[in-house]
Amino acid sequence: MARPVVDAAYRKAVDRARRDLRALIAQKNCAPIMLRLAWHDAGTYDAKTNTGGPNGSIRNEEEYKHGSNSGLKIAIDLCEEIKERHPAITYADLYQLAGVVAVEVTGGPTIDFVPGRRDSLVSPKEGRLPDAKKGVDHLRDIFYRMGLTDKDIVALSGGHTLGRAHPERSGFEGAWTNDPLKFDDSYFLELLKGESEGLLKLPTDKALLEDPVFREYVELYARDEDTFFRDYAESHKKLSELGFTPPGSLGSKTEANTSLILAQSAVGVAVAAAVVILSYFYEVNRRVK
Ligand code: HEM
Repeated sequence: MARPVVDAAYRKAVDRARRDLRALIAQKNCAPIMLRLAWHDAGTYDAKTNTGGPNGSIRNEEEYKHGSNSGLKIAIDLCEEIKERHPAITYADLYQLAGVVAVEVTGGPTIDFVPGRRDSLVSPKEGRLPDAKKGVDHLRDIFYRMGLTDKDIVALSGGHTLGRAHPERSGFEGAWTNDPLKFDDSYFLELLKGESEGLLKLPTDKALLEDPVFREYVELYARDEDTFFRDYAESHKKLSELGFTPPGSLGSKTEANTSLILAQSAVGVAVAAAVVILSYFYEVNRRVK
């Protein structure tokens, strides 16, 4: 689908949608599921084939019915209310904006949001998102496929500072922290404490303690929330822009240059054709004389 034109009107619609999302999330206490929606739309990205990623394809029934997306139809429907009010905004932008706002309104860092993502109706095959029952190698396989790093893996896992698992959706139960509607570094503090009555640790969460590189980040984020917030904001922005070339950046300049070169070539061909035609008529005219 076409890339949206990010002009003043589009930016205004984004600002209004941001305000509506803030109100909706505060009213419904739905920050966790909005963040999960943004992550699951983006987290299908495959850097080698440049497929998947934050393109709104999770709204397709085929994709939201994937086992790993269980429950996310709730967030898709909530976003639809905003889409109806601001139809110009692409689903791809809307879902990522919802993720950014979810972090912000729960007290987390401000994440830079650049609009302009195009929508897609092509859903990737099931199996691109991480399996919570697996470990270190699996986490690396999945996140490296997206082009992300060890630091991104740990920082983004800190998203589990929000929300809870629901047995009917994932088979797991409970929250990771004592205040699942507050974005802070308590996910890392709880992880280092070990088992706590009533709190959840997925096998993939525990894997962050097993690997020495991961563990170093866990310890850093547990003792320094500012660093966690800074790294989280960076990693979240990367996640939200996988496969996306923001308008006005180098990639789209290249796109613009390519269009210019094509336009210049077309003019060149037209001029050459005109010269050939004129020479022909000149020649015919000369012979007739
Ligand atoms: C590292 C690999 C990850 C695995 C294996 C994983 C797995 C899971 C599982 C099993 C649930 C419970 C779903 C339910 O029962 O409702 C969950 C919830 C959640 N995940 Fe993750 N996740 C991962 C990474 C992330 C990332 C990167 C983010 C965001 C940056 C994130 C944000 C969330 C949030 C906010 C919830 C709570 C949703 C709610 O309360 O409805 N997760 N995750």
